[in-house]
Amino acid sequence: MDNYILVTGGAGYIGSHMTLALQAAGERPLVIDDLSAGLRSAVPDGVPLFAGSVGDAAFVGDIMDRYPIAAIIHFAASVVVPESVARPLDYYRNNTANARTLIDCAVQRKVPHLVFSSTAAVYGEPDRTPISEGQSTQPINPYGRSKLMVEWMLDDVARAHPLSYAALRYFNVAGADPDGRAGQSSPNATHLIKIAVQAALGKRDGLDVYGTDYPTADGSCVRDYVHVSDLVAAHIDALRYLRAGNPSVICNIGYANGYSVLDVIEVVKRVSGIDFDVRIKGRRPGDPAALVASNELAKSLLGWRPRHDDLETIVRHALAWERRLP
Ligand code: UFG
Repeated sequence: MDNYILVTGGAGYIGSHMTLALQAAGERPLVIDDLSAGLRSAVPDGVPLFAGSVGDAAFVGDIMDRYPIAAIIHFAASVVVPESVARPLDYYRNNTANARTLIDCAVQRKVPHLVFSSTAAVYGEPDRTPISEGQSTQPINPYGRSKLMVEWMLDDVARAHPLSYAALRYFNVAGADPDGRAGQSSPNATHLIKIAVQAALGKRDGLDVYGTDYPTADGSCVRDYVHVSDLVAAHIDALRYLRAGNPSVICNIGYANGYSVLDVIEVVKRVSGIDFDVRIKGRRPGDPAALVASNELAKSLLGWRPRHDDLETIVRHALAWERRLP
């Protein structure tokens, strides 16, 4: 396989795990990242890194002209739900408009396949869980809308042009590479497991729980936490699926296990053996009560086989990575 797999956002949290997985699968990754959240050091040696925006058509087109691209895995995006509520136009530019530019470049250069980082946030407040892909998509925050519009674009483009795609709707990605080669490095990360392990290690002063008045068993929000290594494995499976000539697909990537915010805190305290302050606060804007995936489609269609479906393992790996960070 001589051609490159273009990984946008490849210097970021998920993207850095992706390049390692691609190398392990015998592929040749190539990274575009604007380094707004990603780190140069997260890109493995020998992987070409181009610093810039996927919204810059001349920049992306020039790279595609110089490197034959077999497929694109598109991670580069803004991913914080409450931030999207406060700054919607940034999300519509970074996530929606920039994706349009990237897809346009892909179509012009006849790139045959694209794997897109979509999100459980497209479902909004689902009427039942576990959520299957056929359920209605009514996002309740700009983040989910900014991603759903890209799914729509891809659907139209795949009908009009020779491009097949897999849109993977990620549930809550967490954890770190089991071998300690990559992890969530952003000091400003806002995600629950990252915050909780930082609180356990004394890197922050405790943790705020955003709401205990939701219609869930303990009143805190329920999410389906998926190990980052299993998530990137799903992308390898999706690439194989598309290259075999299969039609475009939209798939959830989660474990079909829901844990509340309070459950997560309990597991982080237990696994770390460290107690920390927990303060109950009001709701955070844009949060749905419960998001839990049905993953039957990923398993049956893509052949996805999760290997780290265990919250303690996810927390252990997140803690191990956090301990190594300065
Ligand atoms: N939470 C807290 N305290 C914190 C951080 C988070 O109580 O300090 C709560 C949130 O309110 C929410 C839950 O923990 O109820 C999970 O929040 P995260 O910020 O970790 O993740 P989100 O569910 O908001 O969003 C994440 C990704 C999205 C993705 C979504 C899919 O950021 O990209 O999961 O479920 F779409």
